[in-house]
Amino acid sequence: MISHNSNFMHLQWLWGCSIILILLIISCQDAELILDVQDVQESISALPQEVISPVDNPYAEEKENLGRLLYWDPILSGKKDVACVSCHHPNLGYTDGLDFSQGVGGIGLGQNRSGGVKTRRNAPTIINTAFNGIDNNGNYNPEISPMFWDNRAQSLEGQALLPMLSKEEMRGTAIAEALIIDTIIQRLNAIPGYMAKFEQAFGSTEINQSRILAAIATFERGIIANNSRFDQYMRGNSNALTNFEIEGMNAFIQVGCADCHSGPMFSDYELHTIGVKDNVTPPDQGATNNFDFRTPTLRNLNLTAPYMHNGLHRTLEEVMEFYEDIAEGNNAELNINIIESQLDEEMQDLELEDDQIDEILAFLNTLNDDSFDTTIPDSVPSGLSVGGN
Ligand code: HEC
Ligand code: HEC
Repeated sequence: MISHNSNFMHLQWLWGCSIILILLIISCQDAELILDVQDVQESISALPQEVISPVDNPYAEEKENLGRLLYWDPILSGKKDVACVSCHHPNLGYTDGLDFSQGVGGIGLGQNRSGGVKTRRNAPTIINTAFNGIDNNGNYNPEISPMFWDNRAQSLEGQALLPMLSKEEMRGTAIAEALIIDTIIQRLNAIPGYMAKFEQAFGSTEINQSRILAAIATFERGIIANNSRFDQYMRGNSNALTNFEIEGMNAFIQVGCADCHSGPMFSDYELHTIGVKDNVTPPDQGATNNFDFRTPTLRNLNLTAPYMHNGLHRTLEEVMEFYEDIAEGNNAELNINIIESQLDEEMQDLELEDDQIDEILAFLNTLNDDSFDTTIPDSVPSGLSVGGN
């Protein structure tokens, strides 16, 4: 009798515990699966609908049109063979599909390009560079927006000068760095088509360095893709993402990707050491002795392979394997010149499980938007071949 009674109490106690346990599990699962839009918004958010221009370079359609022609015209290069578009082509997501770009002397485009002097870094896309530097509240200053893998240039205007000066990208060796811009201005001055376009854009026929840069930057500010399914979801269309993609979004935040890939561009625009291996293809040797690179945007990744500053990873699956290995402490994936303790804290804290990879990949896929401007001009005022060799 006594033993029966205590058995009964024991059972009741077990029951109580199990119910509490089940409730706990359910509430934990809920917390893991459902982040509402407001929670998400604390780390990642939609891009603004409008672009801000610098105070001293306001938008004008004529300027944008002129900028497009300059962007496509190889007249800006030393030997009139390379244009900006040689490495940032609209059909290749405004990049070139190569691990290292090929500049001066190159012929062809993308995988078919050969013979060009190689640059030391992978070409990032021009798409949405208008928003570089944007924070999670949508604030940014286009006069100081960070440019390049190491943030060494400021603003689209400031950046646009550098490829023209660069020996590898556009200038070559025939014309000295100190003379190249004057040479370009002289060439443009000799072309009536350009004189007229500068007059329409700026109110007079004067052609100078700052006008060239202002026009190119204005054109680039028009290459925007801010209506991905993720943007639509964050702006209130709850049907824009599937449940699986939403789970991927939550995982992206919870495992720690958004500690660096934050804000509307999925970049904090800070430099981080994440330990990417060297790309053994020349000329990378030595190009990575600085391991700090800017967090790249994760928008339009469907168009911008190969990935990383050195184009090391051909697919997003490969990139995810890299992160998984680091999260698991598998240092075989780490650059041989780096030890784990040198990695940024956010990287050391990463927790990525195998079953989260597919959902994160599905989420990354929602950041694609191919609605950007891909116009190719029929001709350029110099009469040279559109886009260079
Ligand atoms: C030979 C190939 C090549 C040519 C030509 C070229 N670029 Fe680039 N571009 C690159 C590479 C490589 C990088 C990355 C360099 C780095 O980070 O050190 C880059 C970076 C950029 C960036 C920075 C994007 C960001 O998010 O930081 C912009 C903007 C840009 N280029 C615009 C232009 C413009 C405008 C022209 C023409 C005046 C041009 N490029 C010509 C290869 C090229
Ligand atoms: C410590 C900051 C940090 C964390 C955490 C982080 N990343 Fe990155 N990510 C970077 C940096 C920096 C690079 C560029 C590194 C390089 O080129 O050497 C990068 C590159 C990438 C790229 C390649 C993009 C391109 O265009 O080349 C992808 C994709 C990516 N990260 C996704 C993720 C995902 C998914 C997670 C979470 C599992 C994550 N990252 C976590 C900083 C971070």
